[in-house]
Amino acid sequence: MATTHLCFLLTLLLASIFVSNHPVRCDDDDLHRGINRYRASLNLPALVENDNAECLADEIAEKFKNQPCTNTTGSNTISGSEPQFADFPNLLAKCHLNVSNTRDGTIMPACVPNRVADLVLTNFTKSQYSGKLNDTKYTGIGIGTEDDWVVVILTTSTAEGSFASAVASKNTPTLVSQIGLFSQLLFLMLSSVLLL
Ligand SMILES: *[C@@H]1O[C@H](CO)[C@@H](O)[C@H](O)[C@H]1NC(C)=O
Ligand SMILES: *[C@@H]1O[C@H](CO)[C@@H](O)[C@H](O)[C@H]1NC(C)=O
Ligand SMILES: *[C@@H]1O[C@H](CO)[C@@H](O)[C@H](O)[C@H]1NC(C)=O
Ligand SMILES: *[C@@H]1O[C@H](CO)[C@@H](O)[C@H](O)[C@H]1NC(C)=O
Repeated sequence: MATTHLCFLLTLLLASIFVSNHPVRCDDDDLHRGINRYRASLNLPALVENDNAECLADEIAEKFKNQPCTNTTGSNTISGSEPQFADFPNLLAKCHLNVSNTRDGTIMPACVPNRVADLVLTNFTKSQYSGKLNDTKYTGIGIGTEDDWVVVILTTSTAEGSFASAVASKNTPTLVSQIGLFSQLLFLMLSSVLLL
């Protein structure tokens, strides 16, 4: 009987670890708030989170991940000289995007060792990127991080930069995190019951 319980518990434990293994978004939120404070200081409206842009930002950060920070990477790059990825169309497709609704957006990679929060923020607000962040045409934002890399994508409210889903599957990430939370709760409840 005890072994059955143990097995069951272990399976649940593994399941809850597996399901809840998605990246923590805390420092992304900090940067989002920091950028909105910067916009507020210029009397510009806040940027609203855009899930598809966030998805693409994560994919691009993943591509940059293994490149070290140098004075020619990230916000030090001259506009337009960012590395271009051969598989960019695949990244778009992964995020249910299509070049026809992303071309007006802006992709801004930055590299900051250990992603020190203050430096990350100033790499956007006090670099050439500030000229994008202070632009009224941008209304949405997606942030992706991976190792030392932070990728910020700005979206517009026009069709050409809306980052609207080409396919209706927007709710998938929410569902996954709900399952994650649910399985963790279930695990907690069951382990306390079994320990009694
Ligand atoms: C980048 O760093 C290298 C060596 O550290 C230096 O020689 C070069 O001038 C720097 N370039 C810029 C644009 O700052
Ligand atoms: C992108 O979307 C437009 C309009 O919805 C469509 O005509 C075009 O075929 C799509 N392109 C790709 C590569 O999916
Ligand atoms: C951007 O981050 C780098 C660290 O990679 C730092 O040396 C630099 O001062 C930062 N630039 C700005 C404008 O904050
Ligand atoms: C936005 O920032 C750029 C570069 O820092 C500056 O040249 C421009 O005047 C600013 N525009 C507004 C509306 O603040």
